[in-house]
Amino acid sequence: MLIDLRSDTLTKPIDSMRQAMFDAVVGDDGRTSRDGKGEDPTVNRLEDLAAKVTGKEDAMFCNSGTIGNIIALMTHCTRGDLVAVGANSHLYKSEKSPFMESYFGLDPVLYEADNRGVPRVDSLASHFRKRNTNLLCLENSNNFFGGACISAKETKAICELANEYSVPVHLDGARIFNVAAYYDLPVSDLVAPVDSVMFSVSKGLGAPIGSLLCGSKAFIKQARSTRKLLGGGMRQVGIIAAAGIIGIEIQSQRLKEDHEHAYLLASKIVGNTKIKVNLENVQTNIVIIDVSNSGYSAAKFEMELAERGLYVKAVSNNHIRMTTYHGISTENVEKAAVIFNQYCHNLKEVDSDIE
Ligand SMILES: Cc1ncc(COP(=O)(O)O)c(C=O)c1O
Repeated sequence: MLIDLRSDTLTKPIDSMRQAMFDAVVGDDGRTSRDGKGEDPTVNRLEDLAAKVTGKEDAMFCNSGTIGNIIALMTHCTRGDLVAVGANSHLYKSEKSPFMESYFGLDPVLYEADNRGVPRVDSLASHFRKRNTNLLCLENSNNFFGGACISAKETKAICELANEYSVPVHLDGARIFNVAAYYDLPVSDLVAPVDSVMFSVSKGLGAPIGSLLCGSKAFIKQARSTRKLLGGGMRQVGIIAAAGIIGIEIQSQRLKEDHEHAYLLASKIVGNTKIKVNLENVQTNIVIIDVSNSGYSAAKFEMELAERGLYVKAVSNNHIRMTTYHGISTENVEKAAVIFNQYCHNLKEVDSDIE
């Protein structure tokens, strides 16, 4: 039995999603009316639902989280603008192009964050005082911090500070539904103070493709032009939007099960002296494991665990990630812990591959 914990993007669409995709009423989403809405009724339904759950005025369907974030940054900013962003955020570490001179040319200012990835308010304040910052980016939950969450209260305090300096806030909320499940709060309570939020339907929510960018009517209107310029416009895409609707309405209700699985996994490996797991950060569906105590690289763990039937993802030289999602059972998680612990137990210290 192969257990694949590389990412929650491996979630397969459930039967009702496939049926909804088959039945979807569609139109040309690229043909827009004066209010900016496209002609695909199912996309419009998804966008209205996204606006409702986030409490924002409007929303726009995008083909990926990456392009949703890029469109947000390019709508808030222009080339050369200063953007405060976490050094370990997905936007800065993985997406990169907004901050590359040869792409969108934004100027990153890296703020200090605590061990959950929550920006330190004093560090932000000192950046805002020193230089005129055009945008602040947050991430919730924090992928590289083991799926840790920023509370509604923390988000509010950060946004109040940003407001004092007239800095708009964009939230990469790819997994904001996991955060909502963790705090037992509606998504709208968590994102109320931010100006724009992107969330994914293609991760734990289980749709095959897609993210939603949400914000004010004026912001989304401009974002639609940015999306078009980037070639992100789509046509009869209600076929995919239909899956996103089921993701939000149905699959969001079961995320706590993934969180319980992640915690179970983490608690079964935490006693292992060759690795380190911060159990406090295992709040949602991600477990980040520091393997540096073992003397081996994350790449070696990834390769050799795969040979034993456990797929994990090396996310840095000495960190691996395991992620739970719909389709990963309690039994899978228990087996994964056994494979992992046995593998660590058998590692010989002399064979270290770290130079
Ligand atoms: C926090 C976060 N933001 C954005 C993205 C990008 O989403 P996509 O893979 O749909 O482009 C990811 C993807 O894993 C992510 O983890």
